[in-house]
Amino acid sequence: MLDPIDKARSDIEAETLDSEEQVESFRIKYLGRKSGIVTDLFAAIRNVDQSDRKAYGQRINALKRFAEQRIEQARSTLSGSTYGDDQVDATLPGRHVPTGSLHPITQTAEAIKRIFRQLGYSIEEGPEIEDDYHNFTALNFPTNHPARDMQDTLFLEAPPPLGTGVLLRTHTSPLQIRIMESGDPPFRVIVPGRVYRNEAISYKSYCLFHQIEGLCIDEGVTFADLKETLRLFARQIFGSDVRMRFRPSFFPFTEPSAEVDIWWSDESREGGQWLEILGCGMVDPNVLEAVNVDPERYTGFAFGMGIERIAMLRHGIKDIRLLYENDVRFLDQF
Ligand code: DAH
Repeated sequence: MLDPIDKARSDIEAETLDSEEQVESFRIKYLGRKSGIVTDLFAAIRNVDQSDRKAYGQRINALKRFAEQRIEQARSTLSGSTYGDDQVDATLPGRHVPTGSLHPITQTAEAIKRIFRQLGYSIEEGPEIEDDYHNFTALNFPTNHPARDMQDTLFLEAPPPLGTGVLLRTHTSPLQIRIMESGDPPFRVIVPGRVYRNEAISYKSYCLFHQIEGLCIDEGVTFADLKETLRLFARQIFGSDVRMRFRPSFFPFTEPSAEVDIWWSDESREGGQWLEILGCGMVDPNVLEAVNVDPERYTGFAFGMGIERIAMLRHGIKDIRLLYENDVRFLDQF
């Protein structure tokens, strides 16, 4: 026959602990303060010979620890996890970590820069706060000429003759002047940057936007080079089935001048429309003279394109304002 401690141990081992209720009655049955089996065995130490008490006490303590372990194990199984706090369950689905991405304007600017880098253009940047001279005068806008009106300028100081005419640049073209002032031809450079205009805001115009200016000055550069450069650019950025057109235009700093439109198909707007994406032309001899480049020896072309509109055409974005709201539900798509 088993002694009472061994009997209690094998009983404890045999108990089924599959529910909170079973665990609770197990606890009362063995460890209950009034008449738990283990508790009673503790009390029975009174009847043990003095010389055996120490060994008896150790056996009862081990039995109690065994009963307590069964309760702990049953509880952690019932609470849904067989894992302790310090363990990792590698089968759980991972937590979603939101990752950022480049804004569609930045993505498009990068794509444009890549194309021109392949054509041997370098990249420059310049100030957003400009002076009247670089934004207008050196670009062959005479003082009081109506062409200045086209640019809806945000002046920081009154224009001449009243003030200095410090302004938020209306285009990236002032960099044509700054670049040619500080070097010698040939030039082949593009300039990305932000520009500002007091525009009527609509689905295709905003009070600030981004441009990329291009300038190519060398001996023997012709309008054919300009056309082929922009055609190649359009086919790379929009795909070889792009519909584009050159339309005669006017800019004070180019002669002749043109604008490039891309077909913007849109069922909700009568099938589509032409969208202007850039102005361009052969750099006017007056501009070359203003920066001491000999117009008898050098010719060249320039262009200035709007990055937002190119991004809209590439991604089918129907309203330019979406690009400035920074709604992650919109930005997530790129
Ligand atoms: N700066 C002009 C604008 O913002 C665009 C432009 C036209 C730039 C002709 C050029 C150019 O470089 O040659 O409207």
